[in-house]
Amino acid sequence: MANLREMVEILRSAGEFTRLRLLALLSEGELSVKDLTEILDQSQPRVSRHLRLLTESGLITRHAEGAWAFFRLSDELESSALVQHILGRLDLEDELLVTDRQRLAAVRRDHQARATTFFAKVAKDWDRLRTLHAPDEAVEASIQQLLAGAHFDMFLDLGTGTGRMLELLADQFTKGIGLDASREMISVARTKFEKSGQKNVQVRLGDIGDLSEYRDSADFVMLHQVLHHFDDPGLALQNARLSLKPGGAIMVVDFMPHKLEFLREEQAHRRLGLSHVQMQAWARSARLEVMQSREIPHPGPDDGLTVCIWHLTDNSKN
Ligand SMILES: C[S@@+](CC[C@H](N)C(=O)[O-])C[C@H]1O[C@@H](n2cnc3c(N)ncnc32)[C@H](O)[C@@H]1O
Repeated sequence: MANLREMVEILRSAGEFTRLRLLALLSEGELSVKDLTEILDQSQPRVSRHLRLLTESGLITRHAEGAWAFFRLSDELESSALVQHILGRLDLEDELLVTDRQRLAAVRRDHQARATTFFAKVAKDWDRLRTLHAPDEAVEASIQQLLAGAHFDMFLDLGTGTGRMLELLADQFTKGIGLDASREMISVARTKFEKSGQKNVQVRLGDIGDLSEYRDSADFVMLHQVLHHFDDPGLALQNARLSLKPGGAIMVVDFMPHKLEFLREEQAHRRLGLSHVQMQAWARSARLEVMQSREIPHPGPDDGLTVCIWHLTDNSKN
């Protein structure tokens, strides 16, 4: 509950042209200052100042990650209710807000295109590259351990790349589908499964942003080293969740927070790892529950990263 003075400050922070546009944009998902600056076509110091005022009033939260900072609408109940109320009264078809959303879509398309270009280049070499910074053998052993004895009718591997997860867990599903946005990755995976004669696996071109074809289809969804390619991993998780049957589970395998900024430039990473606190919040928004998590540190060189496995289950009945 805010006192009189605090409430005036909160309303002031929202009651300004650019800041209201920022709130409307952040209702579409988590975004970096860089992207917000591009969408609004204003200088970075100006956008940063507006973001600071919204952060100070508690309507949004800031998450610093290396050289970038990401912003999202606050999850705190009262702030979130206030923002939803304000946005609910706003005509979202206002010309300027429509233009903002169109620019946001263009920025997202541009990120996706850059990631797709990167994966097109490395597809043939991916099986070697994928182990560079991750304690791969230990991670795979842990995944197998955590899923020991489980069997799935339909296993969906989102961002399947060269299909390593389908290969690793092939004995544990009746039907496995690997989806990826990169034609080149899919082609490497397809050749591999054709050669090995794996019959229960299919790989298809597809976008995690649109899983309508797979709605309520899978009893297990894997997101192995995929979420760090998204500005808003929480939104990707929500999309993934739509493909889950009631009572199903999702496994996220990804890096813990790190400082290897060059991975953004060199390997199309958007987020420098994911934290437990973030995962809890993203899971809650997706009506999932973190059942288990396991960290696997890199035993080797200094630039090796810690990987975490998060096992999430459907909690929509709770
Ligand atoms: C780091 S690779 C991981 C591949 C595989 N899961 C593995 O661990 O080897 C990330 C993969 O996600 C795919 N990807 C990125 N954005 C995607 C999207 N929006 N929809 C589907 N796949 C996507 C990329 O093409 C790439 O193959």
